[in-house]
Amino acid sequence: MKTIKVLASKPYNVYIGAGLLDHAGELLRPVLRGDAAMAVTDDAVGPLYLERLKAALSSAGLRVFEHVIPRGEASKNAENYLRLLSAMAECGLTRADTVVALGGGVVGDLAGFAAATYMRGVGFVQIPTTLLAAVDASVGGKTAIDLPQGKNLAGAFYQPDAVVCDVSLLETLPEPVFRDGMAEVIKYAFIAETPLLERLKSPVSAQLEEIVALCVSIKRDIVCADERESGARKLLNFGHTVGHAIEKCSGYAVPHGRAVAAGMAVITRAAVHAGLCPPEVARALEELLIKYNLPADTHFSARELAAAALADKKRSGDGISLVLPVSLGQCVIREMPVDALEAFIAPALGVPAKGGESL
Ligand SMILES: NC(=O)c1ccc[n+]([C@@H]2O[C@H](COP(=O)([O-])OP(=O)(O)OC[C@H]3O[C@@H](n4cnc5c(N)ncnc54)[C@H](O)[C@@H]3O)[C@@H](O)[C@H]2O)c1
Repeated sequence: MKTIKVLASKPYNVYIGAGLLDHAGELLRPVLRGDAAMAVTDDAVGPLYLERLKAALSSAGLRVFEHVIPRGEASKNAENYLRLLSAMAECGLTRADTVVALGGGVVGDLAGFAAATYMRGVGFVQIPTTLLAAVDASVGGKTAIDLPQGKNLAGAFYQPDAVVCDVSLLETLPEPVFRDGMAEVIKYAFIAETPLLERLKSPVSAQLEEIVALCVSIKRDIVCADERESGARKLLNFGHTVGHAIEKCSGYAVPHGRAVAAGMAVITRAAVHAGLCPPEVARALEELLIKYNLPADTHFSARELAAAALADKKRSGDGISLVLPVSLGQCVIREMPVDALEAFIAPALGVPAKGGESL
């Protein structure tokens, strides 16, 4: 097992290893204050792992309640948020008790927002079950629900008390969901100089613990430097400006990970074209995307993408923060007027790498 200490405003440990679910009780006991826990999961993860979680928490002396939501992004809404708060109140959860999120980013974000707001904040633990949640969503303290007007529009920064990442739970992930998570893993390899890029050249299944730990360490370092995303944390958005635009243009038919993959490739080629990045970086990125069956281009035009980016909540005023690679494992944040985006990305579209897929 690997333990990564996150020294955020609230310090906590991320435990990463195979088979940790059955030891969640012992691992979490030191951070649990009350004697009750609300286990939150979805209807795909629940049948696979909820009983094991309940047994592990019960063995640590906790009364365990459960709340199951339907799987999928559509569940991350205000109605399910209020239902969860009501369930917590009905079970008599006190301020000392804990919400335990067992699932992907949807469950983690919703349960985290409920934990942040029930009685102005109760205990919160993340047990990620998707690759994306393991390397990204479960660490860093962003919690949210979607509104009809857009994704993640209501939320709070609320760090967990602990994260228990049992990598063996990822074995039951549907292949496309795992592949989407790989886009975020590849993102880390290009925003920080670590052994990650080298490791990704070999099959990931045999080294999941190491790879998740490397990604979490990178996220930890960035989040600790800038918990509320006023500067360095924006690096985590590499590929996301164009990625979000692709998602939006497709009416959210394109999954997030695949959109981010294409977004990273487009923005990197644009940086090469602008003379800010050596072509080898774009080549290395495209090779990895192809290796992991992720797209490296999109059929949407620069005009369509720029129009969609205008509506992005991460935009501030007339400016947009772009994350641009400048060398292998190093990106910079560049502010750009929104109306300059179209011309910046135009030369990078419709030129996928040989063998690369276009969305
Ligand atoms: N808080 C953050 O910092 C942060 C960061 C990135 C993304 N997010 C959010 O995360 C969400 C996406 O998360 P996601 O990609 O994990 O999607 P998800 O939670 O919807 O999970 C994807 C699918 O996989 C299923 N599943 C999960 N674990 C499984 C397992 N072990 N075995 C079998 N099936 C399993 C789920 O039931 C679901 O159908 C989005 O809402 C996004 O906004 C949050």
